[in-house]
Amino acid sequence: MSNAKFITLEGVDGAGKSTHIDFIKSYFTSKSLDYILTREPGGTNLGEKIREILLNDEMSPITESLLMFAARSEHISNLIRPNLSNGVTVISDRFTDASYAYQGGGKGISSSTISQLKILVQKDLEPDLTLLFDLPVEVSIERLNNTRVLDRFEKQDYEFHKRIREAYLNIANENKDRFHIIDSTKSISDIQNDITKILDIITK
Ligand code: TMP
Repeated sequence: MSNAKFITLEGVDGAGKSTHIDFIKSYFTSKSLDYILTREPGGTNLGEKIREILLNDEMSPITESLLMFAARSEHISNLIRPNLSNGVTVISDRFTDASYAYQGGGKGISSSTISQLKILVQKDLEPDLTLLFDLPVEVSIERLNNTRVLDRFEKQDYEFHKRIREAYLNIANENKDRFHIIDSTKSISDIQNDITKILDIITK
């Protein structure tokens, strides 16, 4: 039986997800485990084109949700499922939980609308493990302001980021079997220890 896993990484913008992706990659490489790293929105040629539009163009929340799931549909059919079938672990920098958090919690699209899109696009596919990089909103906004040019999502206000964090924490509470919350206020080495312990269990 294939031991390939579907692992997703989530969190508010600025919670340090990108910092820990290199570490996660080196974990899989050092154990000689086959994996690919991908991202949402994006991950395929068409998905990356949709990402450009999503991150730069103004649009209504429902259009935004539909485009997220259009990119996700391509991603699942052309990249995620084929790799899992070939025994390759797929690590995705964001997945459907981000739609519940951002378009749901952040922009007010109902959970039932997102669930309908999820059923249509995702069918029986669920992550085996989701790492939620969690950080108080004050800290994430400060980190964002200090680091880079902000995209359309990152430029939103405090209340928006607060709703996203709360939505993520609610989803994590409702799905304790697959979620691990990573406290991003900890030091990088403590976080790496936490990640190692979790990955040791899932790859056993
Ligand atoms: P990234 O900066 O982590 O690559 O993600 C790009 C942005 O897209 C980020 O601000 C979160 C947002 N996003 C959603 O709003 N809904 C989604 O379903 C996904 C996957 C991402």
